Amino acid sequence: MNVITTTSELRRELAPSRGKDRIALVPTMGCLHEGHLSLIRKARSLADIVVLSIYVNPLQFGPNEDLDAYPRTFEADAARCEAEGVDIIFHPDNLYAAGTPLVSLHVEELDGCLCGASRPGHFDGVATVVSILFNIVQPEIAVFGEKDWQQLTIIRRMVEGLQIPVQIIGSETVREADGLAMSSRNRYLSDSERRKAKYLNRALATMQDLAASGESHAQILLKAAGDFLAEQDITVEYLEIRDAYTLQPARMLQQEHPARAFIAARIGAARLIDNAALDLPIEPSNLIESTEPQEVVPCN
Ligand code: PAF
Repeated sequence: MNVITTTSELRRELAPSRGKDRIALVPTMGCLHEGHLSLIRKARSLADIVVLSIYVNPLQFGPNEDLDAYPRTFEADAARCEAEGVDIIFHPDNLYAAGTPLVSLHVEELDGCLCGASRPGHFDGVATVVSILFNIVQPEIAVFGEKDWQQLTIIRRMVEGLQIPVQIIGSETVREADGLAMSSRNRYLSDSERRKAKYLNRALATMQDLAASGESHAQILLKAAGDFLAEQDITVEYLEIRDAYTLQPARMLQQEHPARAFIAARIGAARLIDNAALDLPIEPSNLIESTEPQEVVPCN
C-alpha cells in the first residue's frame, strides 16, 4: 500500500493504469470505522485499484462545527486500509490549490431540506471537494455510504450535471448490533447516551413496520415514530418522509416512487443522522407502473 500526499505524485502513480485497470475511489475524512471498511470492500469487489482519500475538508464545516475537534487518526486508519487491501491512501495536506478554494460548486434543488437546512453551505463544500477528488483521481467508480443519503443524492446529481464519467455506488449503512448506524460521531456518546442513541433507528424501524403492514399515510408513520421518540425523551432536529431521489416531501407512500424516512437528533454532544427505505408490501395492485412523471421543485 502506498501513501501519497500530493496530486502530482498520485497522477504519476495512476498513469500506467489509466484505460487498463478499473480505479475505485472511496472518499473519506478518516477516523475509519466498520462503515468505511464496508465501502472499501465494495470498492475492492468492483475495481482493480482502490484509492481511499483521507481529507478533513474545511469547506464543509460551518463556523460553529467541529472542524478542529474532528478526530484525526491516521495511523489507525492506515493499518485498517492495509488490512482491507487498499492500494493507495491519498492524504493531502490541502486540496485547494491556492490555499483557499478558487471555485465553489452548488448543486441545485437538493440542499434546502434535511441536513442542508441547518448546515448552510455544507453540501456546497462536499460537492466542491468531491469534484476536485474526481478530477485528481479520475476513478471509474466511487463508493459512498447510504447513511449520508442526502450527500449521496447530491453527488449523483452533481455527476449528472457536470457529466463526470464516474459510476456512483451507494453502500448500505452498517449498524451496531442494536441498530445504531456506525458513525465517527458515535465516539462522542457517553454510555447512557449510547444506550439512548439506538432509539433513532428504532423510530425508523417503527415506520418501516407500519409501511410493511400496508400503512401508506406519511403523517401516520411520522406520528408513530414521533410518539415513540418523545417517550424516549429524544427531541429531533428533523423527522421526515421524502421521495428517495427528488427529496421532495412525500405525503403518501407509493410503490412507484420510493420514499425514505430521515432523522437527525442531538444526543449529548453528538448530532446523529440516519435514514431508511419505507417499502409497502408488494401486492399485485401495487405493481401497476405509473406513467406520470414527477414534478421536480427545489426541496424545502
Ligand atoms: O462523507 C464524508 O466523509 C465526506 O463528506 C466526504 C464525502 C469524504 C467529502 O469530504
